[in-house]
Amino acid sequence: MLKRDDFLSDIYLIDWMKHEGKLDTESIDKDLKSNFNRIDFEVPSTEFKTIKYLLDRGCYISSSKVTYAYKNTIPTVTADPRLDLATMGDAQELSRLAAETFTLDRYRNDPYLDAKLVPKLYSEWIKNSLNGRSDKVIVHRENAAILGFTNTIKKTEELYIDLVGVRKNCEGRGIGKSLISKVKELYPQETLSCTTQIHNVPMQRVLQRAGFGIVSSSYIFTAVR
Ligand SMILES: CC(C)(COP(=O)(O)OP(=O)(O)OC[C@H]1O[C@@H](n2cnc3c(N)ncnc32)[C@H](O)[C@@H]1OP(=O)(O)O)[C@@H](O)C(=O)NCCC(=O)NCCS
Repeated sequence: MLKRDDFLSDIYLIDWMKHEGKLDTESIDKDLKSNFNRIDFEVPSTEFKTIKYLLDRGCYISSSKVTYAYKNTIPTVTADPRLDLATMGDAQELSRLAAETFTLDRYRNDPYLDAKLVPKLYSEWIKNSLNGRSDKVIVHRENAAILGFTNTIKKTEELYIDLVGVRKNCEGRGIGKSLISKVKELYPQETLSCTTQIHNVPMQRVLQRAGFGIVSSSYIFTAVR
């Protein structure tokens, strides 16, 4: 079954569809016969037959995902005054930071997507996050400037860490690590999860150091027309 992603469709001005439900040869063929500009099929990385089937039908890999999780049962206290919650007034600065920071993401690196739309994408993403899509947007400030941020989303079974971004010239100073510690402090007793790209080594280092373990990996195969 195909579901339109309204957020991405509006940014890229196309019909951006996502396959939902059972993924077999029959449902893939049915989707490919429908009207679309773009379809994403998410496939667990162990499903070699499905992967071959999609490749044979001209799909390409547009994203490689690895999901980490952490059962948060050990109380954490991060008495770092540089960490606090963002407000609507931070929207512009956060949008700029996100657009500059996410260099390994699927949107900037997809040859079929216009990289010039990345700032618009993150600006809308940040606005939505501050407008209620996120439970919290946490920022690291120094001298009134935001050097890093993360946002959290409450899901049925878990607390999802959505974006984590640190200003380029401030990477490797432990800001990513302390943002994750703050999430742990704010959500005791919850299962925390975070998905990143398989090639995003720095993010995976941060998650591994924070005690997260890999729970799954998948690829997104995309058909474009
Ligand atoms: C991922 C990110 C948030 C980490 O933030 P950070 O403040 O640099 O993180 P920390 O300083 O706490 O830790 C960085 C870890 O990554 C490692 N690291 C930093 N840059 C790296 C690089 N280019 N390649 C490999 N490892 C790197 C550091 O050595 C450290 O690991 P260690 O604790 O084992 O030494 C930051 O690099 C970033 O904003 N990246 C771009 C945005 C992004 O891709 N976000 C994740 C997807 S949502």
